[in-house]
Amino acid sequence: MRKSMLPLLFVFLLHVSASWAASNPLFNTISQCVLAQAKLQSSEVSKILVAKDSPSYTSVLQNYIRNARFNTTATPKPVIIVTPTAESHVSAAVVCAKKSEIQIRIRSGGHDYEGVSYVSDVAFIIIDMFNLRSIDIDLKTQTAWVQTGATVGELYYSISQKSKTLGFPAGVCPTVGVGGHFSGGGYGFLIRKFGLTTDNVVDAKIVDVQGRILDRKAMGEDLFWAIRGGGGASFGVILSFKIRLVTLPPTISVFRLERYLEENATDIVVKYQQVAPTTDENLFMRMLVQPVDSKVKKGEKTIRITIIAEYQGDANTLVALLGKEFPELGLKKGDIAEMSWIQSVLWWNQIPNGTAPSVLLDRNVNDADFVRRKSDYIKTPIPKAGLESLWTKIVAIGKPGLVFNPYGGKMNQIPPTATPFAHRAGFLFKIQHSITWSEPGPEAEQLHTSEIRQLHNALTPYVSQNPRSAYLNYRDFDIGISQKGTYEEGKVYGEKYFNQNFDRLVQVKTKVDPENFFRNQQSIPTHSKA
Ligand SMILES: Cc1cc2nc3c(=O)[nH]c(=O)nc-3n(C[C@H](O)[C@H](O)[C@H](O)COP(=O)(O)OP(=O)(O)OC[C@H]3O[C@@H](n4cnc5c(N)ncnc54)[C@H](O)[C@@H]3O)c2cc1C
Ligand SMILES: *[C@@H]1O[C@H](CO)[C@@H](O)[C@H](O)[C@H]1NC(C)=O
Ligand SMILES: *[C@@H]1O[C@H](CO)[C@@H](O)[C@H](O)[C@H]1NC(C)=O
Ligand SMILES: *[C@@H]1O[C@H](CO)[C@@H](O)[C@H](O)[C@H]1NC(C)=O
Repeated sequence: MRKSMLPLLFVFLLHVSASWAASNPLFNTISQCVLAQAKLQSSEVSKILVAKDSPSYTSVLQNYIRNARFNTTATPKPVIIVTPTAESHVSAAVVCAKKSEIQIRIRSGGHDYEGVSYVSDVAFIIIDMFNLRSIDIDLKTQTAWVQTGATVGELYYSISQKSKTLGFPAGVCPTVGVGGHFSGGGYGFLIRKFGLTTDNVVDAKIVDVQGRILDRKAMGEDLFWAIRGGGGASFGVILSFKIRLVTLPPTISVFRLERYLEENATDIVVKYQQVAPTTDENLFMRMLVQPVDSKVKKGEKTIRITIIAEYQGDANTLVALLGKEFPELGLKKGDIAEMSWIQSVLWWNQIPNGTAPSVLLDRNVNDADFVRRKSDYIKTPIPKAGLESLWTKIVAIGKPGLVFNPYGGKMNQIPPTATPFAHRAGFLFKIQHSITWSEPGPEAEQLHTSEIRQLHNALTPYVSQNPRSAYLNYRDFDIGISQKGTYEEGKVYGEKYFNQNFDRLVQVKTKVDPENFFRNQQSIPTHSKA
């Protein structure tokens, strides 16, 4: 660029931001405040504050929308999107939003099933963390600092580039964001061996309501406890987590088997429920239950179960193990593929064999489907008669399916009060209810919402009660939302997500954010002011 063009460009930038500001007084106030707080130049502020009438607003907003339900013209939109490129910008955004009395939403990977990170029914701004995504791995201590704007795919890839024996127990889908996933619990196919993602967090950095940046020592053990499963967004903006990496064998084994009702699937499910949560902790067997077209009776619907499994060991050992414990499955060596941990991450996502692991760095999976998810916990295996009656209902409802995720192993060894995540020993399976559709519009939304609610009702006799427990990271507004931010409202969903830990979360919340600045439709309330 020639020197003489610089002043011209500067005038142009000033002009552009001035014209946005003119139509948006709040933008003006916030941008002046951020400029002063973070000690920035005005050209820098215009790079990290995206106003509603900015040309990049729509694409920045849509980049991390992962559910088409919240991608409509009717979806409430933020007044401003803040896209910090330094930690001090996050502090400034919190201080300035608070000063302007506007609510914030915090977004990392944007995978929240109810869009809590980017939708609100009151005026709001988004603090969008995607620029803050460094990953620093220390092989000597086998730990890593991960900024919350990173995805789990980026984390897995970085680990695999540094070591052939280290891995990390987090979610299956590579685009899930570290910020929401880690602070809400997090699990994947290593849960039975290493527990939740958050069980492997050893330190964190958070921006509190005063804009201070605090690490574990500075925030104290109560707040550090709360953000490992209680959801980050009720307590502050988490900048990064320090994690403990785990050691994995060089060869792991995976298999995927399908069985239809006509192939004795019910007997297999009966036995699966005994084996999956009690077997060797090196084995994780997920099970999908789906209504599908019958292969044998044309035009009829049936149930198909799919067992998707990963074993931290070789194929021969796995065949021997399941030959002894689960002969009904009929697993043969030819059903099993041996590979490395990082290849298995691709395998779980059905990415073709031979694809380079750098595919995990891809953030642009533009998933334009409409999705709803719900969760449940099973504490007693569903008896055979119960399964048969459930199959009839699932076939009649027609569309939504279930995913069984076995617990046990390491999950049994961690006390239910060690973190806010209370579903430990005694919880055999977490179930995900799942429905996905592609037709836009309110009619499809109503139909498919009703279908998944019917399925949820059909499960009532078989799942945990008092409370009917749920998983925070499978966010579901049907189990209660907060309108006024009261303790009573919060208790309704809070006890389902956190059981006996809800009250301790309220205590921490009341201490660190007494005015309830960090709030959303399902945040932790403060103790009601008498
Ligand atoms: C395709 C898909 C696959 C999934 N697979 C799994 C899985 O295998 N295992 C599993 O456990 N879960 C899974 N989930 C659920 C996932 O763990 C949660 O949706 C999780 O909260 C997503 O984190 P995020 O950062 O992407 O979401 P976001 O939508 O950005 O955030 C979710 C919540 O966390 C808050 N938050 C985000 N970042 C921060 C931060 N830096 N500081 C404070 N609060 C923050 C948000 O405000 C919001 O309340 C999946 C979800 C999807 C859509
Ligand atoms: C959101 O809508 C845009 C078009 O406006 C589309 O390109 C994108 O795929 C959609 N994303 C989702 C998740 O629905
Ligand atoms: C189902 O079970 C019956 C009786 O136990 C057995 O005879 C039959 O071979 C089994 N079918 C399949 C497909 O495994
Ligand atoms: C993947 O491809 C390689 C090379 O073609 C092959 O040796 C290996 O068995 C394949 N793995 C799986 C899981 O199919």
